[in-house]
Amino acid sequence: MAKTINVGLLGSGFMGRAHANAYNQVNHFFELAYKPVLKACYGRAQNIERLKAFQRMWGFESIETDWKKLILRDDIGLIDVAAPNFLHRGMVIAAAEAGKIIVCEKPLAMNLREAAEMAEAVEKAGVANMVMFNYRRMPAVALFKQLVLEGRTGRPFHYRALYNQDYTISQSVPLGGPLWRLDAGAAGSGVTGDLLAHSIDTAEWINGPIAKVTAHTEIFVKERPHAETGKMEAVTIDDACMFLAVFENGSTGTFESTRYARGRKNYNTMELNGEKGAAYFNLEEPEYLQFFRYADPGTGKKIEDHLTGWQRILVTSREHPYMDKYWVPGATIGYEHTFINSIADFFKSLDGGPPFQPDIKAALRTQEVCDAVLRSAKEGRWVRLSGAGQP
Ligand SMILES: NC(=O)c1ccc[n+]([C@@H]2O[C@H](COP(=O)([O-])OP(=O)(O)OC[C@H]3O[C@@H](n4cnc5c(N)ncnc54)[C@H](O)[C@@H]3O)[C@@H](O)[C@H]2O)c1
Repeated sequence: MAKTINVGLLGSGFMGRAHANAYNQVNHFFELAYKPVLKACYGRAQNIERLKAFQRMWGFESIETDWKKLILRDDIGLIDVAAPNFLHRGMVIAAAEAGKIIVCEKPLAMNLREAAEMAEAVEKAGVANMVMFNYRRMPAVALFKQLVLEGRTGRPFHYRALYNQDYTISQSVPLGGPLWRLDAGAAGSGVTGDLLAHSIDTAEWINGPIAKVTAHTEIFVKERPHAETGKMEAVTIDDACMFLAVFENGSTGTFESTRYARGRKNYNTMELNGEKGAAYFNLEEPEYLQFFRYADPGTGKKIEDHLTGWQRILVTSREHPYMDKYWVPGATIGYEHTFINSIADFFKSLDGGPPFQPDIKAALRTQEVCDAVLRSAKEGRWVRLSGAGQP
Protein backbone atom coordinates (compact mmCIF):
# COMPACT_ATOMS: atom_id res chain seq x y z
CA MET A 1 0.00 0.00 0.00
CA ALA A 2 1.46 3.36 -1.04
CA LYS A 3 2.05 5.95 1.68
CA THR A 4 0.17 9.19 1.17
CA ILE A 5 1.72 12.63 0.68
CA ASN A 6 -0.74 15.45 1.27
CA VAL A 7 -0.22 18.16 -1.33
CA GLY A 8 -0.87 21.88 -0.91
CA LEU A 9 -0.69 23.61 -4.30
CA LEU A 10 0.16 27.32 -4.34
CA GLY A 11 -1.16 28.64 -7.63
CA SER A 12 -4.12 27.64 -9.76
CA GLY A 13 -3.14 28.89 -13.20
CA PHE A 14 -1.24 27.23 -16.05
CA MET A 15 1.31 25.43 -13.88
CA GLY A 16 -1.28 24.75 -11.21
CA ARG A 17 -3.13 22.69 -13.84
CA ALA A 18 0.04 20.99 -15.10
CA HIS A 19 1.07 19.99 -11.57
CA ALA A 20 -2.43 18.96 -10.43
CA ASN A 21 -2.67 16.77 -13.53
CA ALA A 22 0.73 15.21 -12.73
CA TYR A 23 -0.31 14.35 -9.15
CA ASN A 24 -3.57 12.88 -10.46
CA GLN A 25 -1.83 10.77 -13.09
CA VAL A 26 1.48 9.72 -11.60
CA ASN A 27 0.34 6.56 -9.80
CA HIS A 28 -1.49 5.34 -12.89
CA PHE A 29 1.74 5.07 -14.84
CA PHE A 30 4.45 4.57 -12.21
CA GLU A 31 4.47 2.05 -9.39
CA LEU A 32 5.55 4.20 -6.44
CA ALA A 33 5.85 3.96 -2.68
CA TYR A 34 4.05 7.31 -2.40
CA LYS A 35 0.65 8.50 -3.52
CA PRO A 36 -0.24 12.20 -3.53
CA VAL A 37 -3.53 13.35 -2.03
CA LEU A 38 -4.76 16.73 -3.30
CA LYS A 39 -5.58 18.34 0.05
CA ALA A 40 -5.69 22.05 -0.72
CA CYS A 41 -5.15 24.56 -3.50
CA TYR A 42 -4.50 28.26 -3.20
CA GLY A 43 -5.77 31.13 -5.33
CA ARG A 44 -6.51 34.78 -4.71
CA ALA A 45 -9.80 35.79 -3.02
CA GLN A 46 -10.58 38.12 -5.94
CA ASN A 47 -10.72 35.04 -8.20
CA ILE A 48 -12.67 32.81 -5.82
CA GLU A 49 -15.07 31.44 -8.45
CA ARG A 50 -12.14 30.44 -10.67
CA LEU A 51 -10.46 28.82 -7.66
CA LYS A 52 -13.61 26.84 -6.85
CA ALA A 53 -13.82 25.66 -10.47
CA PHE A 54 -10.14 24.66 -10.29
CA GLN A 55 -10.82 22.71 -7.08
CA ARG A 56 -13.77 20.88 -8.70
CA MET A 57 -12.01 20.08 -11.95
CA TRP A 58 -8.80 18.76 -10.42
CA GLY A 59 -10.24 17.18 -7.28
CA PHE A 60 -8.82 19.14 -4.35
CA GLU A 61 -10.40 18.55 -0.93
CA SER A 62 -10.27 22.23 0.12
CA ILE A 63 -9.28 25.74 -0.96
CA GLU A 64 -7.32 28.53 0.69
CA THR A 65 -7.00 32.19 -0.24
CA ASP A 66 -4.12 32.77 2.19
CA TRP A 67 -1.00 30.87 1.14
CA LYS A 68 0.70 31.42 4.51
CA LYS A 69 -2.18 29.67 6.24
CA LEU A 70 -2.08 26.82 3.75
CA ILE A 71 1.64 26.25 4.35
CA LEU A 72 1.11 26.03 8.13
CA ARG A 73 -1.69 23.47 7.93
CA ASP A 74 -0.82 20.29 9.82
CA ASP A 75 -2.50 18.10 7.25
CA ILE A 76 -0.18 19.25 4.44
CA GLY A 77 3.13 17.47 3.85
CA LEU A 78 4.22 18.83 0.47
CA ILE A 79 4.08 22.42 -0.72
CA ASP A 80 4.06 22.95 -4.46
CA VAL A 81 4.97 26.48 -5.56
CA ALA A 82 3.30 27.23 -8.91
CA ALA A 83 2.79 30.96 -8.43
CA PRO A 84 4.39 33.99 -10.13
CA ASN A 85 8.14 34.36 -9.60
CA PHE A 86 7.97 37.19 -7.03
CA LEU A 87 6.21 34.83 -4.61
CA HIS A 88 8.68 31.93 -4.85
CA ARG A 89 11.13 33.17 -2.23
CA GLY A 90 8.57 33.79 0.52
CA MET A 91 6.65 30.59 -0.21
CA VAL A 92 9.71 28.34 -0.30
CA ILE A 93 11.24 29.80 2.85
CA ALA A 94 7.95 29.53 4.76
CA ALA A 95 7.51 25.94 3.55
CA ALA A 96 11.07 25.02 4.56
CA GLU A 97 10.59 26.55 8.02
CA ALA A 98 7.38 24.54 8.39
CA GLY A 99 9.32 21.36 7.52
CA LYS A 100 7.43 20.62 4.30
CA ILE A 101 8.66 18.78 1.23
CA ILE A 102 8.98 21.37 -1.56
CA VAL A 103 8.27 21.39 -5.29
CA CYS A 104 9.11 24.77 -6.85
CA GLU A 105 8.55 26.09 -10.32
CA LYS A 106 11.30 27.71 -12.34
CA PRO A 107 12.87 30.21 -12.43
CA LEU A 108 13.84 29.52 -8.86
CA ALA A 109 13.65 33.20 -7.91
CA MET A 110 13.65 36.81 -9.11
CA ASN A 111 17.44 36.96 -8.83
CA LEU A 112 20.49 35.18 -7.44
CA ARG A 113 20.32 36.82 -4.01
CA GLU A 114 16.79 35.54 -3.43
CA ALA A 115 17.71 32.12 -4.78
CA ALA A 116 20.66 31.87 -2.38
CA GLU A 117 18.38 32.67 0.56
CA MET A 118 16.01 29.92 -0.53
CA ALA A 119 18.84 27.40 -0.91
CA GLU A 120 20.08 28.29 2.57
CA ALA A 121 16.59 27.87 4.08
CA VAL A 122 16.00 24.41 2.59
CA GLU A 123 19.47 23.26 3.57
CA LYS A 124 18.95 24.46 7.14
CA ALA A 125 15.56 22.77 7.34
CA GLY A 126 16.84 19.59 5.67
CA VAL A 127 13.66 19.20 3.64
CA ALA A 128 13.48 17.28 0.35
CA ASN A 129 13.02 19.62 -2.57
CA MET A 130 13.00 19.87 -6.33
CA VAL A 131 12.72 22.52 -9.06
CA MET A 132 10.50 21.90 -12.06
CA PHE A 133 12.92 22.07 -14.97
CA ASN A 134 10.62 19.58 -16.63
CA TYR A 135 12.20 19.44 -20.09
CA ARG A 136 14.98 17.21 -18.78
CA ARG A 137 12.26 14.59 -18.48
CA MET A 138 10.94 14.84 -22.00
CA PRO A 139 11.85 11.37 -23.35
CA ALA A 140 13.59 12.76 -26.46
CA VAL A 141 15.65 15.19 -24.32
CA ALA A 142 16.58 12.41 -21.89
CA LEU A 143 17.64 10.34 -24.93
CA PHE A 144 19.72 13.31 -26.15
CA LYS A 145 21.59 13.28 -22.83
CA GLN A 146 21.96 9.48 -23.02
CA LEU A 147 23.56 9.68 -26.49
CA VAL A 148 26.06 12.24 -25.21
CA LEU A 149 26.91 10.06 -22.18
CA GLU A 150 27.37 7.05 -24.46
CA GLY A 151 30.04 8.97 -26.34
CA ARG A 152 28.02 9.07 -29.55
CA THR A 153 28.54 12.79 -30.13
CA GLY A 154 32.17 12.83 -28.99
CA ARG A 155 34.13 16.00 -28.40
CA PRO A 156 31.58 18.84 -28.44
CA PHE A 157 32.22 21.90 -30.61
CA HIS A 158 28.93 23.77 -30.65
CA TYR A 159 25.80 23.93 -28.50
CA ARG A 160 22.88 25.94 -29.88
CA ALA A 161 19.63 26.74 -28.10
CA LEU A 162 16.57 28.74 -29.10
CA TYR A 163 13.45 29.43 -27.06
CA ASN A 164 11.13 31.55 -29.13
CA GLN A 165 7.49 32.59 -28.91
CA ASP A 166 5.38 35.35 -30.51
CA TYR A 167 2.59 36.31 -28.13
CA THR A 168 3.68 39.82 -27.10
CA ILE A 169 4.15 41.42 -30.53
CA SER A 170 0.98 43.52 -30.33
CA GLN A 171 1.45 46.88 -28.60
CA SER A 172 -1.93 46.48 -26.91
CA VAL A 173 -0.92 43.37 -24.91
CA PRO A 174 -1.14 44.71 -21.34
CA LEU A 175 1.46 44.51 -18.63
CA GLY A 176 0.72 43.12 -15.15
CA GLY A 177 -2.36 41.19 -13.97
CA PRO A 178 -2.58 37.88 -15.84
CA LEU A 179 0.45 38.94 -17.87
CA TRP A 180 2.62 39.33 -14.77
CA ARG A 181 5.47 37.99 -16.96
CA LEU A 182 5.76 41.43 -18.60
CA ASP A 183 6.11 43.19 -15.26
CA ALA A 184 9.66 43.22 -13.90
CA GLY A 185 8.36 43.63 -10.35
CA ALA A 186 6.54 40.28 -10.59
CA ALA A 187 8.76 38.30 -12.95
CA GLY A 188 12.28 39.53 -12.10
CA SER A 189 13.31 39.40 -15.74
CA GLY A 190 11.74 38.75 -19.12
CA VAL A 191 12.66 35.94 -21.47
CA THR A 192 15.93 35.33 -19.61
CA GLY A 193 14.31 33.97 -16.44
CA ASP A 194 11.15 32.74 -18.12
CA LEU A 195 12.52 30.87 -21.13
CA LEU A 196 16.32 30.89 -21.20
CA ALA A 197 16.40 29.44 -17.67
CA HIS A 198 15.05 26.23 -19.28
CA SER A 199 17.64 26.39 -22.08
CA ILE A 200 20.46 27.00 -19.59
CA ASP A 201 19.35 24.15 -17.35
CA THR A 202 19.28 21.62 -20.20
CA ALA A 203 22.48 23.02 -21.76
CA GLU A 204 24.52 22.60 -18.59
CA TRP A 205 22.93 19.21 -17.90
CA ILE A 206 23.86 17.99 -21.39
CA ASN A 207 27.10 19.86 -22.12
CA GLY A 208 28.53 20.77 -18.72
CA PRO A 209 29.20 24.10 -17.02
CA ILE A 210 29.22 27.43 -18.85
CA ALA A 211 32.44 29.34 -18.15
CA LYS A 212 31.52 32.79 -19.49
CA VAL A 213 28.78 34.68 -21.31
CA THR A 214 28.25 37.86 -23.29
CA ALA A 215 24.71 39.03 -23.93
CA HIS A 216 22.46 41.58 -25.60
CA THR A 217 18.87 42.25 -24.56
CA GLU A 218 16.18 44.27 -26.32
CA ILE A 219 12.85 45.87 -25.40
CA PHE A 220 10.80 46.30 -28.59
CA VAL A 221 7.64 47.79 -27.10
CA LYS A 222 8.76 50.41 -24.61
CA GLU A 223 5.39 51.15 -22.99
CA ARG A 224 2.28 49.08 -22.42
CA PRO A 225 -1.10 49.71 -20.76
CA HIS A 226 -1.24 48.25 -17.25
CA ALA A 227 -3.86 45.48 -16.98
CA GLU A 228 -5.31 46.90 -13.76
CA THR A 229 -5.03 50.70 -14.14
CA GLY A 230 -5.07 51.02 -17.94
CA LYS A 231 -2.26 53.61 -17.59
CA MET A 232 0.75 53.39 -19.89
CA GLU A 233 3.80 52.05 -18.07
CA ALA A 234 7.41 51.58 -19.09
CA VAL A 235 8.35 48.00 -19.98
CA THR A 236 11.54 47.04 -18.15
CA ILE A 237 11.80 43.30 -18.77
CA ASP A 238 13.90 41.89 -21.59
CA ASP A 239 11.58 41.16 -24.56
CA ALA A 240 14.43 39.36 -26.28
CA CYS A 241 17.82 38.13 -25.18
CA MET A 242 20.66 36.56 -27.07
CA PHE A 243 23.94 35.46 -25.63
CA LEU A 244 27.16 33.76 -26.57
CA ALA A 245 28.70 31.27 -24.17
CA VAL A 246 31.93 29.37 -23.79
CA PHE A 247 31.57 26.07 -21.95
CA GLU A 248 34.27 24.76 -19.64
CA ASN A 249 34.77 21.83 -22.04
CA GLY A 250 35.91 24.31 -24.71
CA SER A 251 32.79 24.21 -26.87
CA THR A 252 30.94 27.39 -27.78
CA GLY A 253 27.26 28.11 -27.29
CA THR A 254 24.68 30.42 -28.81
CA PHE A 255 21.37 31.08 -27.08
CA GLU A 256 18.44 33.16 -28.28
CA SER A 257 15.05 33.82 -26.79
CA THR A 258 12.26 36.19 -27.72
CA ARG A 259 8.50 36.61 -27.57
CA TYR A 260 8.57 38.41 -30.95
CA ALA A 261 9.43 35.50 -33.26
CA ARG A 262 6.32 35.65 -35.45
CA GLY A 263 5.06 32.12 -36.04
CA ARG A 264 6.93 30.48 -33.17
CA LYS A 265 4.80 29.25 -30.26
CA ASN A 266 6.98 27.21 -27.95
CA TYR A 267 10.04 26.80 -30.16
CA ASN A 268 12.47 25.36 -27.65
CA THR A 269 15.28 23.75 -29.59
CA MET A 270 18.72 22.45 -28.74
CA GLU A 271 21.50 21.14 -30.94
CA LEU A 272 24.92 19.75 -30.13
CA ASN A 273 27.52 19.30 -32.85
CA GLY A 274 30.30 16.97 -31.81
CA GLU A 275 33.23 15.29 -33.49
CA LYS A 276 31.52 11.88 -33.75
CA GLY A 277 27.91 12.94 -34.15
CA ALA A 278 25.24 15.56 -33.58
CA ALA A 279 21.83 15.68 -31.92
CA TYR A 280 18.87 18.04 -32.29
CA PHE A 281 15.58 18.44 -30.42
CA ASN A 282 12.62 20.74 -31.11
CA LEU A 283 9.79 20.99 -28.57
CA GLU A 284 7.28 21.72 -31.35
CA GLU A 285 7.86 18.11 -32.50
CA PRO A 286 8.41 16.64 -29.04
CA GLU A 287 8.30 12.94 -29.91
CA TYR A 288 11.32 13.18 -32.21
CA LEU A 289 15.04 13.30 -31.59
CA GLN A 290 17.28 13.88 -34.57
CA PHE A 291 20.71 12.28 -34.60
CA PHE A 292 23.58 12.45 -37.05
CA ARG A 293 25.97 9.52 -36.69
CA TYR A 294 29.40 10.23 -38.08
CA ALA A 295 31.86 7.98 -36.22
CA ASP A 296 31.62 4.75 -34.24
CA PRO A 297 31.73 5.67 -30.52
CA GLY A 298 33.89 2.59 -29.81
CA THR A 299 36.57 2.85 -32.49
CA GLY A 300 36.21 6.57 -33.22
CA LYS A 301 36.40 5.70 -36.93
CA LYS A 302 34.13 7.25 -39.54
CA ILE A 303 31.22 4.97 -40.39
CA GLU A 304 31.62 4.29 -44.11
CA ASP A 305 28.02 4.10 -45.09
CA HIS A 306 26.03 5.44 -48.01
CA LEU A 307 23.07 5.89 -45.60
CA THR A 308 24.87 8.68 -43.74
CA GLY A 309 22.48 11.48 -42.88
CA TRP A 310 20.28 12.81 -40.09
CA GLN A 311 18.08 10.13 -38.49
CA ARG A 312 14.68 11.18 -37.17
CA ILE A 313 14.09 8.90 -34.20
CA LEU A 314 10.49 8.44 -33.06
CA VAL A 315 11.10 8.30 -29.31
CA THR A 316 8.16 6.10 -28.34
CA SER A 317 9.63 2.60 -27.94
CA ARG A 318 10.03 0.70 -24.71
CA GLU A 319 13.80 1.11 -24.79
CA HIS A 320 13.48 4.91 -24.79
CA PRO A 321 13.55 6.88 -21.51
CA TYR A 322 10.20 6.76 -19.64
CA MET A 323 8.36 5.18 -22.59
CA ASP A 324 7.98 1.74 -21.04
CA LYS A 325 5.60 3.42 -18.56
CA TYR A 326 3.12 4.60 -21.18
CA TRP A 327 1.53 3.12 -24.30
CA VAL A 328 2.64 0.95 -27.19
CA PRO A 329 5.46 1.95 -29.56
CA GLY A 330 4.31 4.72 -31.86
CA ALA A 331 1.65 6.00 -29.45
CA THR A 332 2.99 9.42 -28.57
CA ILE A 333 3.02 11.27 -25.26
CA GLY A 334 3.57 15.01 -24.86
CA TYR A 335 3.99 18.11 -22.75
CA GLU A 336 1.99 17.04 -19.69
CA HIS A 337 4.07 13.88 -19.30
CA THR A 338 7.21 15.89 -18.53
CA PHE A 339 5.52 16.91 -15.27
CA ILE A 340 4.29 13.38 -14.54
CA ASN A 341 7.82 12.02 -15.13
CA SER A 342 9.30 14.73 -12.89
CA ILE A 343 6.92 13.98 -10.02
CA ALA A 344 7.54 10.22 -10.45
CA ASP A 345 11.32 10.69 -10.26
CA PHE A 346 10.96 13.02 -7.28
CA PHE A 347 8.78 10.53 -5.39
CA LYS A 348 11.27 7.75 -6.18
CA SER A 349 14.04 9.91 -4.68
CA LEU A 350 11.97 10.23 -1.47
CA ASP A 351 11.91 6.44 -1.30
CA GLY A 352 15.69 5.90 -1.54
CA GLY A 353 15.90 6.21 -5.35
CA PRO A 354 18.50 8.34 -7.16
CA PRO A 355 18.66 11.91 -5.73
CA PHE A 356 16.39 14.19 -7.75
CA GLN A 357 18.06 16.81 -9.92
CA PRO A 358 17.78 19.68 -10.18
CA ASP A 359 17.03 20.48 -6.56
CA ILE A 360 17.02 24.04 -5.24
CA LYS A 361 20.78 24.00 -4.70
CA ALA A 362 21.36 22.98 -8.33
CA ALA A 363 18.81 25.48 -9.66
CA LEU A 364 20.78 28.21 -7.88
CA ARG A 365 23.38 27.65 -10.57
CA THR A 366 20.89 28.35 -13.37
CA GLN A 367 19.91 31.53 -11.55
CA GLU A 368 23.61 32.46 -11.42
CA VAL A 369 23.92 32.05 -15.20
CA CYS A 370 20.70 34.08 -15.78
CA ASP A 371 22.05 36.86 -13.57
CA ALA A 372 25.40 36.79 -15.41
CA VAL A 373 23.58 37.05 -18.76
CA LEU A 374 21.58 40.08 -17.60
CA ARG A 375 24.67 41.70 -16.07
CA SER A 376 26.60 41.18 -19.29
CA ALA A 377 23.82 42.81 -21.33
CA LYS A 378 23.71 45.75 -18.95
CA GLU A 379 27.45 46.29 -18.77
CA GLY A 380 28.28 45.31 -22.36
CA ARG A 381 31.06 42.87 -21.47
CA TRP A 382 31.85 39.19 -21.00
CA VAL A 383 30.96 37.88 -17.53
CA ARG A 384 32.76 34.87 -16.06
CA LEU A 385 30.94 32.26 -14.01
CA SER A 386 32.30 30.59 -10.97
CA GLY A 387 31.51 27.30 -9.35
CA ALA A 388 30.46 23.91 -10.62
CA GLY A 389 27.71 23.41 -13.17
CA GLN A 390 24.63 21.25 -13.03
CA PRO A 391 24.62 17.78 -11.47
N1 LIG B 1 8.11 24.50 -16.02
C1 LIG B 1 7.52 25.15 -17.00
O1 LIG B 1 7.63 24.76 -18.15
C2 LIG B 1 6.71 26.38 -16.70
C3 LIG B 1 5.75 26.84 -17.62
C4 LIG B 1 4.99 27.95 -17.28
C5 LIG B 1 5.20 28.62 -16.09
N2 LIG B 1 6.18 28.17 -15.23
C6 LIG B 1 6.40 28.86 -13.95
O2 LIG B 1 5.31 28.56 -13.08
C7 LIG B 1 5.01 29.69 -12.25
C8 LIG B 1 3.54 30.05 -12.45
O3 LIG B 1 3.34 30.39 -13.79
P1 LIG B 1 1.91 30.17 -14.51
O4 LIG B 1 2.16 30.18 -15.97
O5 LIG B 1 1.19 29.05 -13.91
O6 LIG B 1 1.18 31.53 -14.11
P2 LIG B 1 -0.38 31.83 -14.11
O7 LIG B 1 -0.51 33.28 -14.17
O8 LIG B 1 -1.08 30.99 -15.13
O9 LIG B 1 -0.86 31.29 -12.68
C9 LIG B 1 -0.31 31.79 -11.50
C10 LIG B 1 -1.27 31.53 -10.34
O10 LIG B 1 -0.67 32.12 -9.18
C11 LIG B 1 -1.65 32.84 -8.45
N3 LIG B 1 -1.34 34.30 -8.59
C12 LIG B 1 -1.23 35.02 -9.71
N4 LIG B 1 -0.91 36.29 -9.43
C13 LIG B 1 -0.84 36.38 -8.10
C14 LIG B 1 -0.54 37.43 -7.20
N5 LIG B 1 -0.27 38.67 -7.63
N6 LIG B 1 -0.54 37.17 -5.89
C15 LIG B 1 -0.81 35.93 -5.45
N7 LIG B 1 -1.08 34.87 -6.27
C16 LIG B 1 -1.09 35.10 -7.58
C17 LIG B 1 -2.99 32.50 -9.05
O11 LIG B 1 -3.48 31.36 -8.39
C18 LIG B 1 -2.64 32.17 -10.48
O12 LIG B 1 -3.59 31.30 -11.01
C19 LIG B 1 5.99 30.77 -12.65
O13 LIG B 1 7.07 30.78 -11.79
C20 LIG B 1 6.44 30.36 -14.06
O14 LIG B 1 7.73 30.82 -14.39
C21 LIG B 1 6.90 27.07 -15.52
